[in-house]
This record gives sequence, structure tokens and C-alpha cells, in this order.
Amino acid sequence: MKQIKTIEYKENQLILLDQRKLPVSREYFVCSTYKDVEFAIKDMVVRGAPAIGATAAYGVVLAALEFENNSREDFAKNMAIACERLNDSRPTAVNLMWAIKRMKKIISKNDEVKSVCNLIKAEADYILREDINTNKRMARAGSNIIMQGAKILTHCNTGALATAGYGTALGVIREAHYSGKNIYVYADETRPRLQGARLTAWELKEENIPFTLIADSTAATLIRDGKVDVILVGADRIALNGDTANKIGTFMLSVVAKRYNIPFYIVAPTTTIDFEIETGEEIEIEERSSEEITHIVDVRIAPADINVYNPAFDVTPNEFITGIITEKGILKSPYNVSIPKCKDNSSV
Ligand code: MRU
Repeated sequence: MKQIKTIEYKENQLILLDQRKLPVSREYFVCSTYKDVEFAIKDMVVRGAPAIGATAAYGVVLAALEFENNSREDFAKNMAIACERLNDSRPTAVNLMWAIKRMKKIISKNDEVKSVCNLIKAEADYILREDINTNKRMARAGSNIIMQGAKILTHCNTGALATAGYGTALGVIREAHYSGKNIYVYADETRPRLQGARLTAWELKEENIPFTLIADSTAATLIRDGKVDVILVGADRIALNGDTANKIGTFMLSVVAKRYNIPFYIVAPTTTIDFEIETGEEIEIEERSSEEITHIVDVRIAPADINVYNPAFDVTPNEFITGIITEKGILKSPYNVSIPKCKDNSSV
């Protein structure tokens, strides 16, 4: 299996595989300050819920380096500003807020600045390491639902690029492939940012996992024609009742899956669960620029000065979700019972 390094912290710099440039070229974006990290998240140099959580944690590490010679008071003030800016860099994926919350807890310790800085770095390393472990546990938990020869449909990119390594939905796909299940993947191109065409297709090709790339609008036909056995997608935020925000287009897939009785699974670490919100209605959905729709790779494909609506995510209602595959096991409906239970339990 090929090791794809999405996020690496080396010699006081955060090195990110630049996902804006893939698959045409493999370039790295180097962050030396927390503002570089803020930019990298906003501009989607790095994307995918778990990946932006880990990246933001290292943004806090870089801020700590910048302010380590401040007085205790100034350090706290500057770190609060840095945390807020990083926290606000994208609104929907809760892993970002989760990571910043963990870092803020450390900053609030009343220790001397140098030792707080060391703790901050240790915490970021832990978040990165833990995400890879979590991905592998999810992949094992999910492997039971993948039958020999299964044809799997997936949306967006949920692989090593979207996490600290391995992947969520794509992690389950990897595990099934390497355990000899002879699977076949259909990857949605995922308009408008094309994470499926640019990133998922790249990862699947790198690993020689057999697949076909399809336009998003082809999925319903494939499902109706019996060419899909199971749908696996990731998540950006899951509410206590199981409603799940994920890449725009996920909701539509779930409706078609229900119509044709195709199992529809979310694969996400428990860090993607927002234990503070009851339903998906409380999830803030990011709206991105109109150019993502009117242009493809800087080429205008629509007339100028028109109305454009470009939400980056949608919410799939819990009744369309067959199960939520987490590192603690597979959560089932009623989610308002199984989700709160998994908060404390090490397995479900
Ligand atoms: O806008 P993006 O590319 O950050 O959106 C990513 C997704 O919606 C993924 O499906 C989700 O974060 C799960 S990734 C493991």
C-alpha cells in the first residue's frame, strides 16, 4: 500500500500536500505562520474534515512558536486571536472546532509559556497520530458490511488526502481491497470542486483499486440498473439525531439509495460528531464563491453577472442512513440513543 503524506510537521514548518494542484502536479505548500495555515484551510490547499482538524492544531503550534517569548498575559491574548481565526477558517466540518477546543484547553493551563508551548506541540502530534489509528479502526469496523465482489459508490474525497492518512469511507474501501474482496468502485466526480475526479480518482489509481469515474448525475442510473451494492460516504458534521452534513450531492444520493433499497453508510470518526447539536438544522452550511460554478480551472463556462447558489455541503436526514461506521463500531438507528451512548463508551 502506498503511503500518501498529506500533513507533515518538520523543523517548525507545516508541510501540506497542495490539493489544489493534484492530480496534475505533486507540490507542497509550506506554512511558517498560523496565518499561512488559516489561508491553506480557507483556500482548500488542505480539505476534508479530519485533515483540517489536524492542520488547524498545527496552526496553533505555529502561533505558539510566534508568541513563545511574550509575557504570559500577551501570550494568552495573541493565542486567543490565533485560535479564533483558525476556528473560523471554515464553518461546517466540526473536527476543526474540536481540535481548536482541545488546544485552547491546554493554552488555558496556568503553566509557564514554554511548557504550554511544549504541551501544544505534543497535543497536535497526538491528534495527527490518533487520526490515522482511528481511520484503521473504522476500516476494520466497516469491513464486515462489504461483501465479496461488492460494487461500491462513493462521493467526494474521503481518503488519505482528507485525513491524517488512510481515510474514512475510502479507508473502508482500501481495507476491503487489500483483504482480497475483489471490490469495484464508482467515484462521483463531485461538482463543483471535483474532489472525486481530481483526488479520489488519483488515490484509487495510485493504489491500483479498480474503479470508474462518473458524473454526479450518472449515479441514479447506475443504482437503478443494479450496478451498486453499497454507498459509502464521509461526513463533516453529525448531529445527535444522526442527521449528517457532507459534501453537496450526498443527500441526493441517499434519496436514490432509499428508493432502490441500497445500503447507505456514513463513515466518520466520533470527532465528527457534534454532541452539542440535536439535529442537522443547527449545522452551518458553508457557501463558497460563485466562480467555483461559473468557471472550470479558471476558464469561464457560464455567462458573467448571473445568480449562482453554491452551498458546499448538504444535510442527509437520519432516516436515509443505514448506519454510521465509526472507530467504536457501527452506530444504528435510533441514533438519538446510539450516538450519545458512543460518547463515553470505547465500543458500541
Ligand atoms: O469541501 P471539502 O473537500 O473539505 O469537503 C470534504 C467532504 O465533504 C468529505 O466528504 C468529508 O470531509 C469527509 S472526509 C474524511
